[in-house]
Amino acid sequence: MYSRIISVGSYQPDNIVTNEELERKVDTSDEWIRSRTGIESRAIAKPDQATSDLAILAADAAIKKSGITKDEIDLIIVGTCTPDVATPNVGVIIQESLGLNSCPAFSVEAACSGFIYALNIANKFILSGESKCALVVGAETLSRITDWNDRNTCVLFADGAGAAILKPSEDTGIIYSEISADGSYSDLLYVPYGTSRKPINEKENDYFLQMKGNEVFKVAVKKLESIAINTMKENDLTSDDIDWFIPHQANIRIIQAVAKRLDMPMEKVIVTLSKHGNTSAASIPLALDEAITDGRISKGDRILLQSFGAGFTWGTVLLTL
Ligand code: ACO
Repeated sequence: MYSRIISVGSYQPDNIVTNEELERKVDTSDEWIRSRTGIESRAIAKPDQATSDLAILAADAAIKKSGITKDEIDLIIVGTCTPDVATPNVGVIIQESLGLNSCPAFSVEAACSGFIYALNIANKFILSGESKCALVVGAETLSRITDWNDRNTCVLFADGAGAAILKPSEDTGIIYSEISADGSYSDLLYVPYGTSRKPINEKENDYFLQMKGNEVFKVAVKKLESIAINTMKENDLTSDDIDWFIPHQANIRIIQAVAKRLDMPMEKVIVTLSKHGNTSAASIPLALDEAITDGRISKGDRILLQSFGAGFTWGTVLLTL
């Protein structure tokens, strides 16, 4: 028995911010942003759109494509580091919007690895028989924790949501998954403000993502290389056996460096960050949905999903669609 992704949906706000618009706000240039990151534009939520609003639209799209009815869903897990409010969690808000009121619904706070963590957990629920139909979401409004006057970060981060429906299946689905973390890197990428450690209104700047970009870059490449190699080794596979590689969409140079180290031709790497930016937990399901929708990925393809995020957290999911 496997758990299998039967459908994927996504949503990006229609408010698109180009590099040229950022040039007018901070001391940067389209050329700098493209060459250092690969990003051309990003979608930013409107002021009245919270993370759950994006998540619900992605979930609705996934449900519509799946052919299931909403009431079949018996588990909701959401990866996000930008929840609507401290509590209730975004999973519960989605549950209420779907009109469901008696299944577990919770969020996983693992930054950019949130979707991979959520998928890993949902896989275990399905394999144990505790869930027969899981909704797994990655959704973020990173724009709310981005300092739009800080050129080091505002050119990178964006908003969006992606969702997948998982069901038990006798056909191959999720083949393997691993997740892990190393909290000793927590000072490289973090938001000082929280609901407990730092009181609200203490210092305005504390609301925003703080990042040592160069150091994040170096650790990300090494860690992403090692987890992909480990996942392939554990499954007696080489990069030749992978049809599609979908890494977290943080920076084209990180993606290219990892692909090179894995001997993975860029033709097999799904890259959507030029139009998506870094949407954290939403990045992988957004990329997966785009590549399925445009016909690159089809049923039966073997796909390696891979995340890396603040914490640091990281993970992989190897699956056959
Ligand atoms: N426009 C113009 N110049 C800029 C900008 C900008 N937007 N941002 C920084 N610079 C300047 C810096 O101030 C610096 O100037 P200086 O030399 O005068 O001091 C110069 O560009 C070079 O800065 P570096 O930080 O060395 O540039 P680098 O090539 O490392 O690129 C970047 C910076 C894009 C942030 C890169 O380090 C990176 O992508 N790191 C990984 C970040 C990341 O992906 N974070 C998230 C991963 S995990 C997750 O997704 C949560």
